Amino acid sequence: MKFYPSTPLKGEITIPGDKSISHRSVMFGSIARGTTEITGFLQGADCLSTIACFRKMGVTIENEGDTVRVLGRGLRGLTAPDSVLDCGNSGTTTRLISGILAGQKFPCTLTGDASIQKRPMKRIMEPLSMMGAHIESVHQNGCAPLSISESTLHGIHYHSKVASAQVKSSILLAGLYAEGKTQVTEPALSRNHTEIMLRCFGANVTSEGCTASILPAEELYGQKISVPGDISSAAYFIAAALLVPGSELLIKNVGINPTRDGILRVCQDMGADITLLNAVYDSGEPYADLLVRHSSLKAVEIGGSLIPTLIDELPVIAVMACAAQGTTIIRDAAELKVKESNRIRTVVDNLKAMGADVEETEDGMIIHGGKPLHGGLIESHLDHRIAMSFAVASLIAEGETVIQDADCVNISYPAFYQELERLKD
Ligand code: S3P
Repeated sequence: MKFYPSTPLKGEITIPGDKSISHRSVMFGSIARGTTEITGFLQGADCLSTIACFRKMGVTIENEGDTVRVLGRGLRGLTAPDSVLDCGNSGTTTRLISGILAGQKFPCTLTGDASIQKRPMKRIMEPLSMMGAHIESVHQNGCAPLSISESTLHGIHYHSKVASAQVKSSILLAGLYAEGKTQVTEPALSRNHTEIMLRCFGANVTSEGCTASILPAEELYGQKISVPGDISSAAYFIAAALLVPGSELLIKNVGINPTRDGILRVCQDMGADITLLNAVYDSGEPYADLLVRHSSLKAVEIGGSLIPTLIDELPVIAVMACAAQGTTIIRDAAELKVKESNRIRTVVDNLKAMGADVEETEDGMIIHGGKPLHGGLIESHLDHRIAMSFAVASLIAEGETVIQDADCVNISYPAFYQELERLKD
């Protein structure tokens, strides 16, 4: 797909539903008693993989119009799938579903696409095994396909080496089926949507600092869930409006949970003109509209406990850093290497292809801002966040930018390019 420098971006945009929250609403709805009604569900390929997996386990899920209705089967009502569960490209589906499957009375196998089959699963296999689960990597390489068979689970207190909501959530979900209390302590607080939503469904979940605890549940109960817009998707429009001179965008309905809002804090440090309007709470999650105006940006240093709050936004933050005055340093972000692509490598290589002055480091990158970008050939590596970040970069690059496999944005934001085009003045 070809991209060219942009005229100012003007107008309003409503961001599609949060990917993390959409996944969880279908998963928890499936193992709850009664009906769960979800509005604002993200119709991206990843979340559709989650729906497909639970349908295969006997759950009726209606997905028509604006509302997804999940006819929950209760905590112990899932049935054995008649074939392998396909998690597609979705790490969240694979890791969270494993926690649920560890507690079921039937064996099953799950897998995903070529990218999923390279992503690390030992991080969930280890704690789930410690809880008594029988979970194995079919090819003994620590990756999917995974086979999970019936076992009896008991609670543990797990100290995770990584700040990962997928790891934390997998363990907490297994904890619903375990004997005794299950606790997870992580090195920095990762997104807490599981804790918030499980509480809404009636689970006994508590959080203190970086430790989340859960007690086994008799039942969960179906809920009405309203999914806020995904701040990770909003990030591309925030960046685009800040970067393209003359832009002013009202970005509506954006989830601003403090475990996800790191990009807003970084933008503030960079000197961005962003105003929060109409902040409200729904289903335990805060959201707001964001008014974003073109700004001249300055460099920042990003690391430590901020990283999990903006982990998926780092590629587009790196793009913004190219236009900022001074040197931006991103550190403590080694987790980027095990995302849908090695995002340290793919960001650095693609920025270089556009003429940026950037260096790869062991756990992040260093970007010397202020060097104008030019068009180039961008390899998305089938990574949706890389494709969208570089579509944003192309808006301020001289000449033509070509993004390969650009349609991988279907994973999290099917209408992304149409929306970007619509907002051009
Ligand atoms: C997610 C957690 C994060 C994030 C991913 C979605 C989730 O992954 O990068 O896009 O929904 O829990 P990790 O838990 O691996 O950090």
